[in-house]
Amino acid sequence: MNNETILVVEDNDSLREGICEMLGLEGYRVIEAADGKEAIALLQHHTPELILSDVMMPEMDGFDLYSVVRARRDMVSVPFIFLTARTDPADHLIGRQLGADDYLAKPVTRDELITVIRSRLNRYSQVRIAQLQQAYQTSLTILAGAIEARGAVVQGHIAHMTEMALWLAEELRWNERAINQLRFGAILHDIGKLHVPDETLLKPGPLNEVEWGLIRQHPVVGAEMVRGIPFLSETSPIIRYHHEAWDGSGYPDGLSELTIPAGARILAVVDSFDAMVSERVYAPLFTLEEAYEEILRLSRARYDPEVVAAFTKAWQRGKIQQIYSQSVSAP
Ligand SMILES: [Fe+2]
Ligand SMILES: [Fe+2]
Repeated sequence: MNNETILVVEDNDSLREGICEMLGLEGYRVIEAADGKEAIALLQHHTPELILSDVMMPEMDGFDLYSVVRARRDMVSVPFIFLTARTDPADHLIGRQLGADDYLAKPVTRDELITVIRSRLNRYSQVRIAQLQQAYQTSLTILAGAIEARGAVVQGHIAHMTEMALWLAEELRWNERAINQLRFGAILHDIGKLHVPDETLLKPGPLNEVEWGLIRQHPVVGAEMVRGIPFLSETSPIIRYHHEAWDGSGYPDGLSELTIPAGARILAVVDSFDAMVSERVYAPLFTLEEAYEEILRLSRARYDPEVVAAFTKAWQRGKIQQIYSQSVSAP
């Protein structure tokens, strides 16, 4: 049983009924309209996964219906197939120019119709998965923005870090899946700071032992926050270990060298770099060159030498500098 809903728009009653029956037998849910106007009324309450429409119809023709559908934000990518008796090539051309997904000339065979519909629906479901991932990333970025808004990290920190981390992953030839996990790790790395009380997080002076303890818990808290989300299961360790150091002097677990997850080793470098060059009231501000020298100096102490080598390549290509030159001109 297919779950997709198909809207069939056709003014010829017997033809419309025939098509609806065929699609119904294939297990699709079918809604039907006799012309464009009726179709638009139906679309007030239904969002079909595919639209199959005749071209020549009274009231409103298929081309006009197409334009109305595409103007709706929620339906810009719904597959739209024209079904028509017209064999005039000019009509096909208009349909193509409009961007219709297919143009089937009547009489269409059952096999032809079903094959085209199946392939369009498959493609559409892939597109929707991609859109969902995009929406997911946007929600996470908004969530991470809450950390910046609270003053827990400097404005722009997450965007800078994410961009640098992705350059390094590219230099290291990571695959797409690992890069995605790293992206989410960079966006969410300091999410645990949401649980650190304001008096500690925003304290201008030096922190006492207890306060430091709270701050040092943020990677653990952050990793716990995302651990239960299946899509982020591989991101959780990246968050937990982003303050570990190559020589084992970091926190929370004092891991060293290759026992630290690769994503966390990348974040350690770009997190420190951005912290060094970002304006903060109570910390010395480094120039980009000074911060770069500092990263090189601490290779093998705090940072994975392989990640530092990738950072060097990105630096030599001007990628790192480019990130900051863009942000200087931003408001
Ligand atoms: Fe952190
Ligand atoms: Fe950070």
